[in-house]
Amino acid sequence: MTTRTLTTSTDVERETAIVRAVETLARGEVVALPTETVYGLAADATNAAAVSKIFEAKHRPFFDPLIVHVASLAMARTVAEIPTVYDPLLECFWPGPLTVVIPRRASVPDLVTAGLPTVAIRMPAHPLFRAVLEALGKPLAAPSANRFGRISPTTAEHVREELDGRIPLIVAAEPAEHGVESTIVQVAEDGLLRVLRNGPITLEQLAPFGEVVEGGTAGLPSAPGQLKSHYAPATPLRIGPGMPTPGMRSGLLHFGGSVLPGFSAVEDLGGDLRVAAAGLFAAMRRLDAAGLDEIVAEPVLEEGIGHAIMDRLRKAAARE
Ligand code: TXA
Ligand code: MG
Repeated sequence: MTTRTLTTSTDVERETAIVRAVETLARGEVVALPTETVYGLAADATNAAAVSKIFEAKHRPFFDPLIVHVASLAMARTVAEIPTVYDPLLECFWPGPLTVVIPRRASVPDLVTAGLPTVAIRMPAHPLFRAVLEALGKPLAAPSANRFGRISPTTAEHVREELDGRIPLIVAAEPAEHGVESTIVQVAEDGLLRVLRNGPITLEQLAPFGEVVEGGTAGLPSAPGQLKSHYAPATPLRIGPGMPTPGMRSGLLHFGGSVLPGFSAVEDLGGDLRVAAAGLFAAMRRLDAAGLDEIVAEPVLEEGIGHAIMDRLRKAAARE
């Protein structure tokens, strides 16, 4: 299959890309689209045959459920019953990088939810993704547009590196604003907020809405990269102080300040962690391509977006 990339730098290009994307999705094909978190690989969430092409292109195992993206609350209600406990959260954070896990309707193909009684939904803020959703008039299932277990793409070039020849169309826009995947939250009946994946909406931002706990209930299927190794570069990555290993070609993932000598490559993401998160996956990809023996990632403070960064670093460091 030939993979076309359509750019969207002018109004005409943008309109053309939206029309093409909608046509392709309506035919039951997949399309890579930008979102404000990472690039997604979208398919009509109501069409099981189309959704199966996401799993095929990504080599994603069928037990890993997808996030359904909607343009409006009305569209969300076609796939799920939204319990009222979610209203304050949705009012505050939608559209945006918050995914909620709520009871599904029967109309959602089992493939989307991996047979779970719940469905993960988010209303993205990215104008292009929203334009496609509105023109198609249907919800879109969309995981990150990378092969399974690998680093999520934050640019259209990353998507091409991951999926060239495996999907028909990539719509290219700016690098993703947040650079890490959405925060996933499930609210229990007693109002407890379970954060299944840390992301751009931080634990601190969620705290006013109820007691926040990290992680799912033991035994219940929880979130993403709950598989320990995920977002993983091929080069071994370890978290630790910024010191190279003698005799090794070491690369450094750095978060501002001074750098010790002896590294073969350095990616300095700076001390502003929002900016660092946006550049994290691209820096990991560059280090992975630099022919290194190891990548040393310095730890960041676990507050705010620092939780999401440390989660991604731990998953990149896990080897099983
Ligand atoms: O920012 C994002 O969320 C991006 C963009 C494209 O929107 N999407 C994304 O999708 O990160 P993905 O497939 O890479 O991660 C979705 C994760 C799955 O790994 C799964 O564990 C969790 O969401 N998930 C989906 N449905 C669920 C459910 N019903 N219960 C619990 N977790 C669920
Ligand atoms: Mg993913």
